[in-house]
Amino acid sequence: MSDLFSVRGKTIIVTGGLGQLGRSFANHLAGEGAKVAIYSRRPIADDDLAALFPSTVDDIRVFEASVTDKAALKAATDELVANWGVPHVLINNAGIDSKPSGPAEQNGPFETYPQEFWDEVIDVNLTGVMLTTQVVGAEMAEARRGSIINVGSMYGMVSPNQALYAYREKRDGVPFYKAVAYAASKSGLLNLTRYVATYWAPKNVRCNLITFGGVKTATFDKEFIDAFLERVPLGRQAEIEEFNGVVQFLASDASTYMTGANTVVDGGFTAW
Ligand SMILES: NC(=O)c1ccc[n+]([C@@H]2O[C@H](COP(=O)([O-])OP(=O)(O)OC[C@H]3O[C@@H](n4cnc5c(N)ncnc54)[C@H](O)[C@@H]3O)[C@@H](O)[C@H]2O)c1
Repeated sequence: MSDLFSVRGKTIIVTGGLGQLGRSFANHLAGEGAKVAIYSRRPIADDDLAALFPSTVDDIRVFEASVTDKAALKAATDELVANWGVPHVLINNAGIDSKPSGPAEQNGPFETYPQEFWDEVIDVNLTGVMLTTQVVGAEMAEARRGSIINVGSMYGMVSPNQALYAYREKRDGVPFYKAVAYAASKSGLLNLTRYVATYWAPKNVRCNLITFGGVKTATFDKEFIDAFLERVPLGRQAEIEEFNGVVQFLASDASTYMTGANTVVDGGFTAW
């Protein structure tokens, strides 16, 4: 039974693997015996990497490659293939969102939402997944095996509920709206996933989406958390470790008949 979910000996790419979730995926998968290649926008010193991954650093390598830069993705993947062989799994995890503390117009009314913020988010969250999938998926297709896992969000399935953010206008006197770009980008992943899944099914390359709900972080306002939790059937945010199981499942041979699917892990948020 345990072999079914094994990732031992697999080579796994995690884009944005130095961030909150990516770090947790990389550490967990390396701990389960995988070799993990992190594609990162920025380089990291060996000491800092060892501090981030105290027990798994020997099985983790960082490649400098922004997901928006196809040439850098190609160079990183060529080097990875030369060292560790064709990757078995690609986790398209890198992503950005507008910061609640960002410029007012970034979180302002839709009518005046600046295109530059739209372009920035779509570039990373949607175009970046397309480019990384093109480059890495092509290697997988040639090897006739692979699992591509796209990291989505509940805001790719349902619109952000602006009522959750209304406390901010009351508190700060400035209108606040959760912006459109993140939701649109994550929604785009739904059908990018289906497209890639069906396109490469004859080559035995699978592609699935995970729709995650909110993970517990210290940075949210109490007013937001209270309003948010009322809308989560399980009544709590996810612990970061609770996301590892579904990632390992989709990376392992336990999911070999699964492709083009959207796996929802959101505490029930989208069930209401
Ligand atoms: N945190 C949550 O509650 C939550 C919920 C649902 C979905 N998600 C999704 O999970 C993924 C990870 O989110 P997180 O919370 O760990 O965010 P994070 O900001 O901690 O990590 C994102 C990582 O992506 C990297 N990145 C950004 N642009 C990049 C680029 N062009 N090329 C390569 N790397 C780049 C960042 O440097 C960072 O390390 C995102 O796709 C996010 O949308 C997060």
